[in-house]
Formats: sequence, C-alpha cells, structure tokens
Amino acid sequence: MSFAQSKWGWMNGEIILWENATTHVSAHGLHYGTGVFEGVRCYETPNGPAVFRLDAHLDRLYASAESCGMLIPFNAGELAEAICQVVRRNDFRDCYIRPLCYYGSGVLGLNPRACPVEVAVLAWPWETYLGAEGLEQGVSITISPWRKFHSSMMPTKAKACGQYINSVLALRDALDRGYAEALLLDADGHLAEGSGENLFLVRGNQVITNDECHSILPGITRDSVLRIARDLGFEVEVRTLSVAELLAAEEAFFTGTAAEVTPISEVCRRSGSRFFLCRLVTSGLFATRCVDERLVPGLQCSPRDSNPITNW
Ligand SMILES: Cc1ncc(COP(=O)(O)O)c(C=O)c1O
Repeated sequence: MSFAQSKWGWMNGEIILWENATTHVSAHGLHYGTGVFEGVRCYETPNGPAVFRLDAHLDRLYASAESCGMLIPFNAGELAEAICQVVRRNDFRDCYIRPLCYYGSGVLGLNPRACPVEVAVLAWPWETYLGAEGLEQGVSITISPWRKFHSSMMPTKAKACGQYINSVLALRDALDRGYAEALLLDADGHLAEGSGENLFLVRGNQVITNDECHSILPGITRDSVLRIARDLGFEVEVRTLSVAELLAAEEAFFTGTAAEVTPISEVCRRSGSRFFLCRLVTSGLFATRCVDERLVPGLQCSPRDSNPITNW
C-alpha cells in the first residue's frame, strides 16, 4: 500500500492537493478517537471505474455518526459527489476510498460539541489487504487474547475511529505471533469477527455467519456474500458460532471491503480448508465486476458520464 499515486483529496467541501489534507494537532479526534469513517472500494469495469455499493457505505457512515452524536455537515449526495471527484481527479481505476468525519480543533475536554466536524475523503490504490497469496492460498489466523467489545460498552455497529484500538491490538498480537490475522471472540466467548473482517463458516450445503448480537460490525461485503450464497443455492444460517464449530468447519473465510473474500487456511495452525465455497463466492463478487446481474440481483451498474459509477 502506498500513497505515492494519490495527488488529490477532498476536505470540507473542496478538492485539495494531497499534501494539504492536514489537521491541527489539537484536533479532538486525534486525542480521543472521536470520528467515524468508511472503507469503500472502486473497481475498474467495462463501463469505467465503479464504486461498490456506495449508498450502503454512506448509509453506514451517517448511522455511525448518529450513534456517536455527530452531525455531518454535508449530505449524502454531496459526499457521493466528493468521492467521485477524488477518484476522477486522481485518475484511479481500482482504488480504496476513505471518507472520514472527525471532531477538529476547538476544545480538549471530553465533550466535543464545541469542535467543528471536519470531513475528508482520501483514496489510494490498495490491491490486497491480507496479501495476494492470502487471497489465493488462504491466511493463517489465531484466536486473539483480546475480546471484541460488547455493544453495552461501545456502539459495535458503528465504524468509529477510537474503537479500532481493539482491532489494532488484536492484529499486532497476531502478527507478533506469526499469524496473518486475528479472530476475536465476543464477551461471552463466542466467535465475533476478524480485526477488520466478518467471518463465514461452511459445512456441506450450509453457509453460516453470525450477526450484531455477537459484537460484529455488520459488513457490506458480508451482506453481498449472503445474497450471493443464497443465490447460488446454499442454505444460509445467521446465528451464534462457537470455536468448536470453527475447528470442525469444512471451510472458513473472511469478508470485508479491504480483505474482499479471503479464505482461512489455518486456525491456530490447524489446517484443512477446501476453499470450494470461497472460490465460488469470490467468483460471484468478481462477476459483479462484469455486471452479471443474474448472480447478484440488485447490484447493478449504471454508467454516468465520466464519473465513477456508484452503487454498483
Ligand atoms: C471490524 C470490522 N468488521 C467487519 C468489517 C467488514 O465490513 P465491510 O464488508 O463493510 O467492509 C470491517 C471493515 O470495514 C471491519 O473493520
């Protein structure tokens, strides 16, 4: 991952040079993590660059802000346009897009109400999050000693900046112990999710995942994969998942905007994934790149002049 090709960003209503996308060190968000953000991907398609499910990402951004009591001073149409502008001005085809809203400089007491809400959009090429080999061969994961925080402690359905300390701790621990990713348990010891991904298990014709009752961030990729799995004729179950079930699963995989659909090849060094569904679902997601509406009804491409396509 590199920012070298990112020449332009957007901040508080204006396209600006990447190097001018700065903030003062007294910003509330820097001290207390008071911000919300999204991770969105744009893919090259035969009809030009297309932003994957932009509406869903913007809906979650506004919902995250609301659950943190933050009012975003731009509407969804304005942010969608800002995102398209950043992709277009940078001349990106495939890229990752990061809209971010945070409390800026004003006061440094805990109450951020007197701080302005700053809004920025950045984008950069980000090919694979867990590595090209991980996407192909699967990743080795460990069960984290860090538990995922419960919804009585933090708004788990929100993608809020400060909450990611939990993910950072879990990932660093996993990397330090030689694994590619961490799987966090919820406060009750059931499976929650990866540090930045949702989890799916497969047994026979069943595709199983958990939901927000288990402290997950309900992913937009997860939602697409659920639709694709149903469409492919799999029996889908959304319920509590245990460590024992993970170890007994025929396959397991992570889903997320950054990680896309990444097979899990080893859990605490136990190996055995077959990758069958994972490959099918991956090809399902890739089929949406080719605008195959038969596989994924509801996710279509709508060309729009020179702008990236939104809500693909
Ligand atoms: C903690 C966490 N869970 C799950 C996900 C997957 O969500 P999505 O598929 O919307 O990217 C992410 C990524 O945003 C995440 O950070």
